[in-house]
Order: sequence, then C-alpha cells, then structure tokens
Amino acid sequence: MKYTLMHKNTAVAQIELDDVTGLISRIGEVYAEKHLPLGISVVRGRPDRADLNEWWTDRSIPASRSGIREALETLEISNTKMLLVRCLGLSLSDQYWIKPEGSELSWEHINFFDNPFSDDIGDVLFGGNKKTDALDFSSPDNTSDGNLKKRWKIMDGKRCLIKGGSNPFRQQPFNEVIAAGIMARLGIAHVPYSVIWHKDAPYSVCEDFVTAETELIPAWRILKMRKKPNNVSLYTHFLACAEELGIPGVQAFLDRMITVDYIIANEDRHFNNFGAIRDAETLEWLGMAPIYDSGSSLGYDKVASEIRASRNVTCKPFKNDHEEQLKLVSDLSWFDPNRLSDVRELIEDTLSEGGASEYIDKSRITAIADAVERRIRHIADIAAEHTARNEDFTENDVEENIAEDYSNQKGQRF
Ligand SMILES: Nc1ncnc2c1ncn2[C@@H]1O[C@H](COP(=O)(O)OP(=O)(O)OP(=O)(O)O)[C@@H](O)[C@H]1O
Ligand SMILES: [Mg+2]
Repeated sequence: MKYTLMHKNTAVAQIELDDVTGLISRIGEVYAEKHLPLGISVVRGRPDRADLNEWWTDRSIPASRSGIREALETLEISNTKMLLVRCLGLSLSDQYWIKPEGSELSWEHINFFDNPFSDDIGDVLFGGNKKTDALDFSSPDNTSDGNLKKRWKIMDGKRCLIKGGSNPFRQQPFNEVIAAGIMARLGIAHVPYSVIWHKDAPYSVCEDFVTAETELIPAWRILKMRKKPNNVSLYTHFLACAEELGIPGVQAFLDRMITVDYIIANEDRHFNNFGAIRDAETLEWLGMAPIYDSGSSLGYDKVASEIRASRNVTCKPFKNDHEEQLKLVSDLSWFDPNRLSDVRELIEDTLSEGGASEYIDKSRITAIADAVERRIRHIADIAAEHTARNEDFTENDVEENIAEDYSNQKGQRF
C-alpha cells in the first residue's frame, strides 16, 4: 500500500509498505530530503531502503518486549510492524507518521500530543483481555521502544509514560526515582519520575518531555550520521557527529551523564537511552534531552552480595567498564558531593515506599546505599584531584607567564 512519509506537516517521501511484513518495499519520490530521518544515507537523491527500514523497525515495539508475544496473539496480529501501520506510525517521542495515499488526514487532527488516543493497545500490553467490540489501534503504545512493559496514558491532561520493572526485585521504577533525585540534587537536567502501584506491582510514571513542536532524536541516529573511522573512539566519533550537527552543550551533558551512570552503576545506557531534542519544523537543535531511562542500575537484577562486591556490573555506551568510562569526563568542577549528603535517606525512603518491601529487603537497601556512597566518594576524590591538577596547572601557567614576561623584559630568550 502507498503512503507519504510525513514529518509533522512536511511531506518527506513517497513509500510503499508490504501488506504482510509491514516493511518498506519501495521508496518513491523524495520531497524533502532534509526531513528524512537522521542517519539515512542518500546516494544521488535516493535514500537507502535498508537504512529506512532499520529506522522504521526501530519504531516498532521490539520483539524482546516483556509480554509482546501474548499481546500479539490476543490482537491476532503477526508482527509489531503491522501494529505500527495501524496507528500510522504516530508517536509521542517524535513527529514522523505515514499518510495513506489519497487521504486528507492532517497532523493537527491526528497527532497524539493534542488529540486523545485509545487505551485499547495499552490495556492488551498490560495483560488485559481483548474487548469484545472492535479495537481502536490509534495509540502511541504501538511505537514505543524498550524491553520493559509500558504504556502511555493521559493523566490529569498530561501524556505520561507508565513503565514496569522486571522480576524478581521490580527495582527499576524505584531506581528511576532515585536517579532523578540524585540528578535534581546535582542540578542536572533530567526527567522526573514517580512510582504508582497497579495490581500490587510498582510502575514508574514520567511525563512526556517531547512537545508538539519538538522531537527526541536518539544518540543512535546521531551516531549513524557518519561512518566511524576505525582509528576513532566511539566517544570522539559521537562528539564529532554532534558538533557537525551543531547540537549545543554535548560535552558538558556527557560529563554529567557518565558521572551519574557511575554513581548509580547504570548497566543499560545504550545509544537509544539518551539523545538530543530538535524543532521538528525548523530542524534547529535545541540541546541534549533531559536524562531518562536510568532504571537498569543499582544492581537491579543482582543479589545483595553481588551489589556489595560491585560484581558483574556492565557499562555502556562508550566503554564496557565504568572506571574506564569515567576517564572520559573532562570537567568535574560542577560536582559537589555535599549536595548528595542525604543520598542514603533518598535511597532508603524510596525503596521502603508502599509495598516495596515485598520485593526489596533491608539488607538489599543497605548494600545499595553503601555502594552508592562509596562511588560518590570515589568521584569526589577524582574531582579533588582534577581541582588540584588544575590549580597546579594554573600556578605553573602563572609562573611560566611571569618567567616569560621577565625574560621578555630582559630581552633574553630561554
Ligand atoms: N518521558 C518521555 N518522553 C518522551 N519519550 C520518552 C520518554 N521516556 C521514554 N521515551 C521514549 O520511549 C522509549 C522507551 O522508554 P524507556 O527507554 O524508558 O524504556 P525501557 O523499556 O526502559 O528501555 P530499555 O529497553 O532501554 O531498558 C525511549 O527510548 C524513548 O524513545
Ligand atoms: Mg530505554
């Protein structure tokens, strides 16, 4: 079936979708090359179809999503890309969508930022039974990424993402609150999260940080802008791509993200778990997105003894070891450990809230708080070293300058 790939109100390209697989089988005329999704290679005006299909597939619910097989069975749909087609690819994280050939649909009338959406898909994804009458597929849940069970819901007029945790500790929703609390104390732009309970299970809730005017472009797409030369590190390559695009404040952002991820021992900061924000019409880059999805941290899937020993902690996205990744931080002058003096209370309060004790016991909480305090002390030591080094450097600099001035006065060269 034929569609126009749309970016808000801009027609981007003509595409055809395969009725069975939901994949893009042909790309026709391109109307607005600049509005193609970032990181799609274009040769002589022709976008690469494999690239566009990768982007399109990334838009669908991943096959690894908790409970997706059962949900697809209930919906009697063969794959998650067909779900995408049924909601015209509309999302609450960006402004792309597909317009069926011959339709008069306009973004104003169908976007989920300003218009209500159906709860049907969210209900099924949360394990509810299929309604007896016809299902309404118009929902941003069809285009949401990530492995954890999640759904969008309009709460008090606001678009909110509700996300579960994984067994046995169901710790991720609480971790989001703790990570956000740490970032709030350190003055780092972040997405605030809270915990709600549904059928005795905890879920995190956060508001949509994307608006009808803006959109989130994941770091993965920024990285795909250029092929990484073999002799260049991922970190340097990412900075270079971001600089070429003109995204402001990237290095300062990465300094903060890497530091926070060290403190919380985040194990899943992959390139789709951070990104930048741009204006969807002018394509102007507004900056890096507030930090979101920090839940796979604080030993979320480990037993207390492993947390105590900081064993088996993996690290992403630039290095697979947190100590190594921390070396990429160029400036720690903003880091004030005094602002985290109540971090133990923050952790204890958050992990003892409501029914949390059913999943997380006291010794686990102590192990988590001890580990976090230890890591904060380590960063404070490094920050102090940085300062000492800089002072040293400045003093040497001053001495050198004085010596130079002196030599100049004397008209001598050293
Ligand atoms: N507050 C938000 N506003 C807009 N988009 C969001 C928000 N939070 C998350 N998203 C989008 O939804 C996607 C899935 O959310 P999130 O990363 O929190 O889920 P997850 O299941 O924890 O992911 P993962 O598989 O990486 O663990 C994100 O990659 C991002 O594109
Ligand atoms: Mg994620």
